[in-house]
Amino acid sequence: MSNDGVNAGRRRFLVAATSVVGAAGAVGAAVPFVGSWLPSAKAKAAGAPVKVSIGKIEAGQQIVAEWRGQPVFIMRRTEEILANLGKIHDSMADPESKASVQPAYVDPVTRSIKPEVLVLVGICTHLGCSPSFRPEVAPADLGAEWVGGYFCPCHGSRYDLAGRVYKAQPAPMNLPVPPYSYESDDVIVVGVDQEKA
Ligand code: FES
Repeated sequence: MSNDGVNAGRRRFLVAATSVVGAAGAVGAAVPFVGSWLPSAKAKAAGAPVKVSIGKIEAGQQIVAEWRGQPVFIMRRTEEILANLGKIHDSMADPESKASVQPAYVDPVTRSIKPEVLVLVGICTHLGCSPSFRPEVAPADLGAEWVGGYFCPCHGSRYDLAGRVYKAQPAPMNLPVPPYSYESDDVIVVGVDQEKA
């Protein structure tokens, strides 16, 4: 499962942190500055990179990981989904993400390193709700024009399957793309930048 790596990483961290606390307890009186280690350790845990196994994500589906306390959507896109990105290009507020948050090494339109794998921070850029994954085409509640995307239940912002926000929505920007990299074809690391080729 995708969270195994996360939890295993946390367990390892907790073991390491416990060792530090034990050591601090033993020498705390003699080494007054040791207390400052704890906030630093917590800060490291909160910002630690997260490895996610993506090999089992089926075409058209997504999993949700967690990084820095935020949901991270990881979706495997089909050829059809990628083709639709071009068709709805003109309906987007910021189609090439010039004013939105994404690393320089992702493609400006597909917003990803590999076109088929989308990685987004799942936090609406309006007021911070988490949008719903709505990959189906033309569902009754979203209308005949809907080709799949993300729908924010709080105030109705609509995003496509690249996390690009449609024009005239409450949300001002596309969903952010976090820094990430491929450790292998089936494992990405959220929080670590892809090295330049
Ligand atoms: S928080 Fe998403 S539309 Fe307002």
